[in-house]
Amino acid sequence: MQALRSIFVCSFLFPFLRISTPTTPDTITPNRYIRDGESLVSAGGSFELGFFSPGKSNGRYLGIWYTVDTEAVVWVANRETPLGDTSGVLKVTEQGVLVLLNSSNSIVWSSNTSRTAGNPVSQLLDSGNLVVKDGNETNPVNFLWQSFDYLCDTFLPEMKLGWDLVTGLERYVSSWRSKDDPAARGEFSLRIDHRGFPQADVDG
Ligand SMILES: *[C@@H]1O[C@H](CO)[C@@H](O)[C@H](O)[C@H]1NC(C)=O
Ligand SMILES: *[C@@H]1O[C@H](CO)[C@@H](O)[C@H](O)[C@H]1NC(C)=O
Ligand SMILES: *[C@@H]1O[C@H](CO)[C@@H](O)[C@H](O)[C@H]1NC(C)=O
Repeated sequence: MQALRSIFVCSFLFPFLRISTPTTPDTITPNRYIRDGESLVSAGGSFELGFFSPGKSNGRYLGIWYTVDTEAVVWVANRETPLGDTSGVLKVTEQGVLVLLNSSNSIVWSSNTSRTAGNPVSQLLDSGNLVVKDGNETNPVNFLWQSFDYLCDTFLPEMKLGWDLVTGLERYVSSWRSKDDPAARGEFSLRIDHRGFPQADVDG
């Protein structure tokens, strides 16, 4: 009876296990890039990174969306610089910089970093954060770059708003120009007033 039940449980569970086992990787390395039509899915399956055209737009954008709702785009890399066709490629360089290339191999968008990595890896985390890090690094303090530092119009759990007083980076959200155009619309942004910080008060 016990054996029978195990067989039943196994055959019942297997299809689910196969479906839930991620077949799409969550990382790129200098040896492995993705092109339009391919994507990364975070290890827990919550978020997907890939290429899309919002609404009626013909432009191609690199973005992150919820896997359960592909219309729910939470981050866009090349907000201001859409690709004109489906030949975009996302790579991480040997220096640990993410570059989005068009068909003429020109950089349409890139991340930046003040450090280099011996073994650069770009990973889509299950929080929706796209990070560049060295090897198996897990401490966010040591990440070379993270999309959570460059917010678009969506504030996700674990994101921070406002000034990083160490790097001088300001994190703020800004709305899309329209549902067909993720470019930032300057007049609608939510920022933290720099003057409110004690550090700034010292100057005043
Ligand atoms: C690629 O981008 C470069 C720089 O923005 C641009 O001059 C070139 O026309 C683009 N190529 C294509 C095929 O869109
Ligand atoms: C990265 O680029 C942003 C926006 O251009 C800039 O504010 C920031 O200082 C840069 N960071 C580094 C580490 O170069
Ligand atoms: C990262 O972790 C994997 C699996 O745990 C291991 O095989 C690999 O050697 C590690 N890489 C580095 C650079 O530590």
